Amino acid sequence: MMINSFAVMHSLAAVVLVSVVCVANAFTRNDFPPHFLFGASTSAYQVEGAANEDGRKASIWDTFAHAGNGGLYKGNGDIACDQYHKYKDDVQLMSKMGLDAYRFSISWSRLIPDGNGPINPKGLQYYNNLINELTNQGIQPHVTLNHWDLPQALEDEYGGWVSRRVIKDFTAYADVCFREFGDRVKHWTTVNEGNVCSMGGYDAGFLPPQRCSSSPIFNCSKGNSSTEPYLVTHHMLLAHASATRLYRKMYKVKQQGFIGFNLLVFGFVPLTNTSEDIIAAQRAQDFYLGWFLNPFIFGEYPATMKKNVGSRLPFFTSREANMVKGSLDFLGINFYYSFYVKNNAKSLQQKNRDYTADMAVELTPYTVNGTSTDEIPVIPWTLEGLLHSLKDIYGNFPIYIHENGQQTRRNSSLDDWTRVKYMHEYIGSLLDMLRNGLNIRGYFVWAFLDVFELLGGYEASYGLYYIDLEDPTLRRQPKLSSVWYSNFLNNRTTDSVITMKIEENSSLLSNTPLKNIAT
Ligand SMILES: *[C@@H]1O[C@H](CO)[C@@H](O)[C@H](O)[C@H]1NC(C)=O
Ligand SMILES: *[C@@H]1O[C@H](CO)[C@@H](O)[C@H](O)[C@H]1NC(C)=O
Ligand SMILES: *[C@@H]1O[C@H](CO)[C@@H](O)[C@H](O)[C@H]1NC(C)=O
Ligand SMILES: *[C@@H]1O[C@H](CO)[C@@H](O)[C@H](O)[C@H]1NC(C)=O
Ligand SMILES: *[C@@H]1O[C@H](CO)[C@@H](O)[C@H](O)[C@H]1NC(C)=O
Ligand SMILES: *[C@@H]1O[C@H](CO)[C@@H](O)[C@H](O)[C@H]1NC(C)=O
Ligand SMILES: *[C@@H]1O[C@H](CO)[C@@H](O)[C@H](O)[C@H]1NC(C)=O
Repeated sequence: MMINSFAVMHSLAAVVLVSVVCVANAFTRNDFPPHFLFGASTSAYQVEGAANEDGRKASIWDTFAHAGNGGLYKGNGDIACDQYHKYKDDVQLMSKMGLDAYRFSISWSRLIPDGNGPINPKGLQYYNNLINELTNQGIQPHVTLNHWDLPQALEDEYGGWVSRRVIKDFTAYADVCFREFGDRVKHWTTVNEGNVCSMGGYDAGFLPPQRCSSSPIFNCSKGNSSTEPYLVTHHMLLAHASATRLYRKMYKVKQQGFIGFNLLVFGFVPLTNTSEDIIAAQRAQDFYLGWFLNPFIFGEYPATMKKNVGSRLPFFTSREANMVKGSLDFLGINFYYSFYVKNNAKSLQQKNRDYTADMAVELTPYTVNGTSTDEIPVIPWTLEGLLHSLKDIYGNFPIYIHENGQQTRRNSSLDDWTRVKYMHEYIGSLLDMLRNGLNIRGYFVWAFLDVFELLGGYEASYGLYYIDLEDPTLRRQPKLSSVWYSNFLNNRTTDSVITMKIEENSSLLSNTPLKNIAT
C-alpha cells in the first residue's frame, strides 16, 4: 500500500490520512500466530550508562565516542539512559506496554573487563538482576553478545576482530554467558550487524574502531580497507561458529536455546531493467548479505565475491567450512532502508581496491516521493521482496526482525505520528508476509527508549519513550507511538478504533510541547 502523501508533516494531515489507512487495513494482535513475538530493542552502550562504574572497562565504542565520534556528532554513552540503575522501572514499563520480549546486549567489558581473564562479579550481578526482572514479568530476554562494543583491551592487545585470536576469547566470553544466564535466556545473537561492523569499521572507517586506508571520509591512523573488512568478517563467522559448536555440545540439551547472527539488510532494486543492473543488484546482495549467509548455509563465500576479491578473500579449511555451515539457528535482521543499484564496472579497474570498489555498484537510497529527507521512507514491499529472495536462495530458515523503526529529531515532539504510521504499516505488512509463507518469528521495534545512537548520537531519536537529557531524573516520557504499540499489544480493540482513541489523546499530547523544541 502506497502512503507516500503522509510524509507531509504533522498532526492535521496525519489524522485524516491515518484514519483512511486504518479503515482499509485494520488488524489486531490476535491476527498473528499465537507464538509470534513482539518486542523492543536496545543495546548495552546505548542505554546502560554507568560506563566507569562497578568495574566496567572501556569498549572500542567508548573510545570512538570519547575521541569525538569521528566528528559526526557530539556525545557518549557514559550516562546514556542510565538503565544500569533504572532497569527495574524500565522492565515495569515494558510489562505495562505488553512486550513479549526485550532485546538487549551484554557489555563484554562489563562482564569480563579485559576481554579475557577474570569475570567482574558486579557485571554478573547486573545481568542476573535484569534477566530475573524480565523473566519474573514474563518477558523473554533476547540477548546479543557483541553490539559494536568489543573490549578496548582486546583491540589494544591484538587488534580485536582483525586477529584470529578473537575467536578463542569470544568463545570463552560466550561460554560464561551460556553457563551463567542460559537457564533463562533461550535466544542468543552472537554479533549485531556483522556486515556493517566490517564495512563501517574497517573499510570506510567511520565507525568503531575506525580502521581504514582508503576512506573518502576519514584518514584513519591504522587499517587496510583492501584486506581487513574480509578478515574481520571471516573471524566473526568463525567466532560465531565456534560459540555455536560449544553451545550445542555443552548446553543445548539442557537449555534448549537457539543461536543466531544479525545483519543490517537492505532491499536492492535494479536502477534500470538492463541485465547489467539486474546482475549488479544480485552482486550487491551477495556482498552485503551473501558474505555471511553463503558461509552459514553453504560453507563458502559467494562466487561473485571470490571472483572480484580474489586472493584477498580468506578461505575456510574444510574443517572450518563444516563448522560454519549449519551454525545458524535463526537470522536476526535490522531493516530500515533500500537502495537502487547501478552497475559500476569502472571501479574494478582501480588499484588497491577496497571492499566498496570490489562490489562494483553505485547505490542510491530508495526514496518515496513526498517523504521528507529526515524521515525513513515506509517501504515494506522492499523488505518482503528481499525476504522472498533470501528464501529462494538459502531456504526458509527462521527470521527475527530485530530492528525496524522511524527516525525523528530527538527534541521534536511526543506526538510522533510518523513513527505510528511507520509501525502500523510494517506490522500490518508482516501479516501479508506470514500469509505468503515467510518464516518470520518475531518483530522488535528499534528502540524502546531514545538511546545514544551509533549514527546521530543524541540528536537522532527512534524511541517509544523520550528522555529529556537535561532532566536529572531522566524520566521516561511516553510518545504517541508507545500508546499505539501498547494498545496493539494488549489487543484492546480493532485498529481503526485505536486510531480514533489516539486522535482524541493526541491533541492532549501535542499540547504538551517538549522543552527545546526546534521547529
Ligand atoms: C483480540 O481481538 C480480537 C478481534 O477483536 C478478538 O476476537 C479476540 O478475542 C481478542 N483477544 C483477546 C485475547 O482479547
Ligand atoms: C586526509 O589527508 C590528506 C593528506 O594529508 C588530506 O589532503 C585530506 O584532506 C585528509 N582528509 C580528511 C577527510 O581529513
Ligand atoms: C593492504 O594489504 C595488501 C595485502 O597485504 C597490501 O598489498 C597493501 O599494500 C596494503 N595496503 C595498505 C594501504 O597498507
Ligand atoms: C522493470 O521491469 C519490471 C517488470 O517488468 C517493471 O515493473 C519495472 O517498472 C521496470 N523497471 C524499470 C526501472 O524500468
Ligand atoms: C517522483 O518525483 C519525481 C520528480 O518530482 C518524478 O519525476 C517522478 O515521476 C515521481 N515518481 C513517482 C513514483 O511519483
Ligand atoms: C487518554 O489518555 C488518558 C490518560 O492517559 C486516559 O485515561 C484515557 O483513557 C485516554 N483516552 C482514550 C480515549 O484512550
Ligand atoms: C533540538 O534538536 C535540533 C536538531 O538536532 C538541534 O539543532 C537543536 O539545537 C536542538 N535544540 C535544543 C535546544 O537542544
